[in-house]
Amino acid sequence: MKLYRILFERVFDPIALYRVQDDMIIFVDVNPAYERVMKLSREDLIGKTFSEVWPNAESRWSSVITECLKHNKTAHCIGESIDVNSYFEAIAFPIQPDMAAVIFLDRTKLKRSDNALKRRQKQLQALAAKLTITEEETRRNIASDLHDRLGYELISQLRTLREIDSKLDSGNIIKDSINELIKTTQNIIAENRSLIFELSPPVLKEAGLNPALEELAKNILAPNKIQWHIITKGSADEFKADDSVCIILYRMARELLINAVKHSGASNVNIIINRKPEIITVAIEDNGAGMFGSSNKGFGLFSIRERLLALGGNFKIISEQGKGLMAVMTCPLKLKNGEILNGSENIIS
Ligand SMILES: Nc1ncnc2c1ncn2[C@@H]1O[C@H](COP(=O)(O)OP(=O)(O)O)[C@@H](O)[C@H]1O
Ligand SMILES: [Mg+2]
Repeated sequence: MKLYRILFERVFDPIALYRVQDDMIIFVDVNPAYERVMKLSREDLIGKTFSEVWPNAESRWSSVITECLKHNKTAHCIGESIDVNSYFEAIAFPIQPDMAAVIFLDRTKLKRSDNALKRRQKQLQALAAKLTITEEETRRNIASDLHDRLGYELISQLRTLREIDSKLDSGNIIKDSINELIKTTQNIIAENRSLIFELSPPVLKEAGLNPALEELAKNILAPNKIQWHIITKGSADEFKADDSVCIILYRMARELLINAVKHSGASNVNIIINRKPEIITVAIEDNGAGMFGSSNKGFGLFSIRERLLALGGNFKIISEQGKGLMAVMTCPLKLKNGEILNGSENIIS
């Protein structure tokens, strides 16, 4: 018994013994670690009730004691103690039918690093989403430069070449060369147009997400002989999404459509756009091989999830081997103050 007493006295973690009598929890004993951590002396505690000593304590700290006695087994709780400004994990053991011992394990450091880690994670998510939006702006700037500067120069050049051509007699020896130059210039103009489209589809900005996704499906799926259907629910005018939301959903849908081409072997893809008063869902469903094993192999799905979380949305994959795959992106229509979440909780769970 003396040995156990030494253990009780010397252990670094606070331990308290309580008796429960007529719904009252009474202090029977505490070890020096309890006195040190809780900043209370043993003499002031023994015989006092829990609520006398800790009038402001949250109910979890007393419930853990009564619960362990009620069920005659170890009970457990974790939380912040406002009184001592620490984060504890309390483990309560029944000792006798009316007596329990509680050991308090200090989890403050763990909790702080956990919080710091979660904060960093949120910041990284926000960064990833901002990156997509900034990337889109850069793409738009390059596209508009290609359109306004290079495109303009090329059109002028084509006009000049046509003028020269019209002034040359049919037998002129440079006529063929001029015609060659006209053809090359026309090709460069067409290339420039498709480059502009690839960089930043004007339809996304001008006509909105639904037509842009339709255009995207046509460009990605049709050349791969995959049939596709767009199913829309909810009015795009009534439930209009913020620009940033559209940009992210568009870019992420592109990744999902490319995945369907690359990995699924599907013959049909459905693009389902569902708008509700506060939420927009874009689902890409294929009838291909489905996903087996882990989806953590690549960066695509991971980055979709991170970006959507940063917007306060979420990402789900529903798949069964041989039965296709459905990737569902959910996002709030409007970002709070137009901002990407930077540490606050997601609004959609
Ligand atoms: N539509 C799909 N059908 C079947 N498997 C898929 C589909 N989309 C993704 N996958 C699987 O999930 C993995 C991860 O995808 P992703 O993160 O986009 O990376 P990546 O496309 O670079 O491989 C893919 O390698 C593939 O095995
Ligand atoms: Mg991919």
